[in-house]
Amino acid sequence: MRNTMKGLKLTLTVFSLLALVSCSETHFKEDKIFAGGVYAPAKSLNDGKSLYTEYCMPCHGVNGDGKGVAAKGLTVPPRNFKLGQFKFGRVVSGELPHDEDFYEILKKGLHGTAMLPWDLSQQQMHDVVQYIKTFAPEKWEGADKKLGDVIVAGKDPYGEAHKESAIQRGKEVFHVVAQCWTCHRAYVSHAEFSQIAQKINGAPVTEFDPDMYHVKLQPSDYGVATMPPDFTYDSVRSATTVEELYVRLNSGVGGTAMASWKGVLQDDEIWAVAHYVKSLMDMKRTPARAKLLESIKN
Ligand code: HEC
Ligand code: HEC
Repeated sequence: MRNTMKGLKLTLTVFSLLALVSCSETHFKEDKIFAGGVYAPAKSLNDGKSLYTEYCMPCHGVNGDGKGVAAKGLTVPPRNFKLGQFKFGRVVSGELPHDEDFYEILKKGLHGTAMLPWDLSQQQMHDVVQYIKTFAPEKWEGADKKLGDVIVAGKDPYGEAHKESAIQRGKEVFHVVAQCWTCHRAYVSHAEFSQIAQKINGAPVTEFDPDMYHVKLQPSDYGVATMPPDFTYDSVRSATTVEELYVRLNSGVGGTAMASWKGVLQDDEIWAVAHYVKSLMDMKRTPARAKLLESIKN
C-alpha cells in the first residue's frame, strides 16, 4: 500500500514537472509587433494564452484550428485562427480587422451562433486578441503588416423622418439593382418584381427563377458552405441596427460569398437597403412575417 502511494506520488511529480516544462516551452519570452503597429508585450501574450485556454480553446482548439472538443456538431464551425481571415471586421472583406472590431464581437457575440458574448475586462480582451494573432504569424506579425481602413457610418441620408421612402428604395435595390435575392431569396411577388424592373430598367420581367424564394448555400474560404440568412427568419450575426447593417454591407462578410458593396452601390443605395433589411429583420417572430409571405404568393 505504502509503496503504491509512493509510486503514485512519484508519477504525479513527474507529470507536474513535465507539465511545467511543456508550459514554459510554449510561453512567450519576447514582445511582438502586430499589423497596424499594435505592440503586444510578452506578458499580454502569456495572459492571453491562459484566458484562451480557459475560455476559447474548447471551441477554437489547442492550436487555434477551430477544432476544439466542443466544436463537434456545431452547424456554424468556430473560426480557424490559423487562416488569419475573419468575417465580421469593420474593414473591407479580406483586410485585417482592428482590435476594436474583435472587442465588439467579444462583447456582443455573433447572434445565432455558438459564439456568445463574453464578460471580459478591457485588458483581458486585449490580451486574448493578441494571443489569437499568434496562430497566423505570417498574416499578423511585423510592423510592415497593414490593417484595413475602418468603415464608419456617416450621417444616414434618410433618418427616421424618411424611413418609409428608404425602405421602398431599399426594396428596389435589393431585388433589381443589386439582386441580393439571388443568394438570400426574394420578398416580393412576381408582379411587384416586374413593376420594379420596369421602373429601374425600363422593361418588365416575364420569366422568373423557380428558386427565387429559397436561400441558397454558398461556398466560402473556410472549408464549409455558408448559408445566406433569410432576414425574416434567421439571425443576422453582426448587426442589429440600420447603422450596423450599413457598415456590414460596406465591408461584406470576409471569406464568404457576401462581398463588399462599397463602390458597387451608391452610398444612399447602401443606406436604403440597410433600412429595408432592418424592416425585414423586424418581422422576425411577428405576425407581419406570415402576412408578408401570404401577400407575395403568386
Ligand atoms: C462555444 C463555442 C465557442 C467558444 C467557447 C468561443 N467561440 Fe469564438 N466563435 C465560435 C463560432 C461558432 C464562431 C464562428 C461564427 C461565424 O462564423 O459566424 C466564432 C468566431 C470567433 C471569431 C471570428 C470573428 C470574425 O470576424 O470572423 C473570433 C475572433 C472569436 N470567435 C474569438 C473567440 C474568443 C477570443 C473566445 C474566448 C474568449 C471564443 N471565441 C470562444 C464559437 C466559440
Ligand atoms: C453571392 C451571394 C450573395 C449576394 C448576392 C448577397 N449576399 Fe448577403 N450574404 C451571403 C452569404 C453567404 C451570407 C452569410 C455569410 C456568413 O455569415 O457566413 C450573407 C450575409 C448577409 C448579411 C448578414 C451579415 C451578418 O452580420 O450576419 C446581410 C445583412 C446581407 N448578407 C445582406 C445582403 C444584401 C443587402 C445584399 C445585396 C445588396 C446581399 N447580401 C447580397 C451571400 C450573398
